[in-house]
Amino acid sequence: MNKPQPRPHTHDVLIIGSGAAGMTAALQLADNYSIALLSKSSIKSGSTWYAQGGIAAVFDQQDSIESHVQDTLVAGAGLCHEDTVKYTVEHGPAAIRWLIDQGVAFTKCDNNSEYHLTQEGGHSHRRILHTADATGKEVSSSLADKVIQHNNIELFENHVIVDLITQADKSSSRIRCTGAYVLNTEEDNVCAFQAKVVILATGGASKAYLYTSNPDGASGDGIAVAWRRGCRVANMEFNQFHPTCLYHPNAKALLMTEALRGEGAYLRLENGERFMPRFHLKEELAPRDIVARAIDHEMKRLGSDCVYLDITHKSAEFIESHFPTVKAQCLSYGIDITKEPIPVVPAAHYTCGGIMVNKLGQTDLWNLYAIGETAFNGLHGANRMASNSLVECVVFGQAAASAIRETIDHIPAPEPARPWDESRVTHSDEDVIISHNWDELRRFMWDYVGIVRTQKRLERAKHRVELLQKEILEYYKNYKISRDLLELRNLVLVSELIIRCAKQRKESRGLHYTLDYPETSPIAKDTVMVPINFAAQNIIVNKE
Ligand code: FAD
Ligand code: SIN
Repeated sequence: MNKPQPRPHTHDVLIIGSGAAGMTAALQLADNYSIALLSKSSIKSGSTWYAQGGIAAVFDQQDSIESHVQDTLVAGAGLCHEDTVKYTVEHGPAAIRWLIDQGVAFTKCDNNSEYHLTQEGGHSHRRILHTADATGKEVSSSLADKVIQHNNIELFENHVIVDLITQADKSSSRIRCTGAYVLNTEEDNVCAFQAKVVILATGGASKAYLYTSNPDGASGDGIAVAWRRGCRVANMEFNQFHPTCLYHPNAKALLMTEALRGEGAYLRLENGERFMPRFHLKEELAPRDIVARAIDHEMKRLGSDCVYLDITHKSAEFIESHFPTVKAQCLSYGIDITKEPIPVVPAAHYTCGGIMVNKLGQTDLWNLYAIGETAFNGLHGANRMASNSLVECVVFGQAAASAIRETIDHIPAPEPARPWDESRVTHSDEDVIISHNWDELRRFMWDYVGIVRTQKRLERAKHRVELLQKEILEYYKNYKISRDLLELRNLVLVSELIIRCAKQRKESRGLHYTLDYPETSPIAKDTVMVPINFAAQNIIVNKE
């Protein structure tokens, strides 16, 4: 017998994702509107919680907005949208002050009057505010405390979006977004969440790769659901590989923060040789794409499994006070970073492309916004500069909230959505297909669409992704959904978009390096994917 349908939920604003971006938007809107805030698992489940190095903004007298803008443009290898960069950098200091007002305790200097600013790759000044080496934990818990206390925010943990709901607007011919079907993984049912405005803040898609610094759940769900409803997606070929993740048979995705190099750590080969001076003038502090590629090159040249990150020349007290988390994590794997170098390898870390939005976070679909790592607004170009992501989450969480405040009172309540229909699906007795396809997808993405690409490898990946897509879609149509199946369905679609974007780019730029086209073209152009059901709305995204 079919279970009774769960009651639909209705709010003014539905926010999918409880990372820095989603929680910022929720807190900005909650005094005036009712908010549903969804998270795939716990409120602290996204990448935000894991952020280490910090959050970049101009806070030092010697630093300037122009310099932060310039460094971002250089790291982005000519593809950043300069107006978006300026907007973000100019709003950065206010975003930090707002975080401080929410209770975020950034590390201060010894005199306790100024904030300590650390250094990371690509930055020509010390401009990274941080909470020792666990900035994300501090940002996440401070915002989560405020969210939980707020009467107008209803938090739904363990709720996974399946697809967006759209409706034709009665007074115009436009299609509008009015909510989402959502799987409650605790009660194992799907219900409709309806709202006047929907915000996707679902984070990145680095789980497409076998080795990643990201937590489980970074499966590009927001990008996939937006694409399926007709939103354009851009620059998916620029997946950032973080140069230094712990290499240890038992360690899953442990990032060794770039701030280690910012505070003087060296990259060495097994014989102790420092190799970064051979690759870039800024040595260990070159932009991330260059450091990751140099490591990949040296590992392939020498047939070695890893390189080494060495901070042993700093005092044990210095290391303990700046990097207590990294030190404790390494110690749990038997590595004392005060006495020995850390074995490291690159791993997939950040999705620079995403759902196309304008500077207010508006997508192609009316009343659908996208903010944070899931969105593409032109800030990061072909390579994100370290610590520019958290600041983006706050700045664009605020920008989207102010755009919503301007319009929401004129938006009529949505019509009731059709209940979720699962009368034609059954329970699968072959879940092995899901786990097998997860592994296969992530492995060929790593092998064929990784740090160094060729057209032939991309072509191979394309064939495989097409086969997987057919199989997964067939499975999705016939069997009851689960979180694993939903993530796989999204990840295979996002992987297809990554491959299509990579195939389309006939040059090497930033994070996209191909042996077939090693030169950088004099013309910088975004790779824009337009879906066949393009939800054409008059959104002007800065540059195409
Ligand atoms: P996330 O924080 O990833 O949150 C995504 C949210 O969406 C989660 O709540 C998740 O549960 C929810 N979600 C996802 N899919 C669904 C779905 N289908 N249904 C419902 N909910 C869903 N950046 C910096 O600027 N500085 C740093 O120091 C830094 N360090 C990093 C260290 C690590 C290890 C990692 C992985 C990233 C780091 N980054 C850093 C990048 C930065 O942390 C992220 O880009 C940023 O936190 C993304 O925030 P977000 O709000 O967009 O998404
Ligand atoms: C790090 O701490 O190395 C991560 C910083 C970032 O991804 O911005």
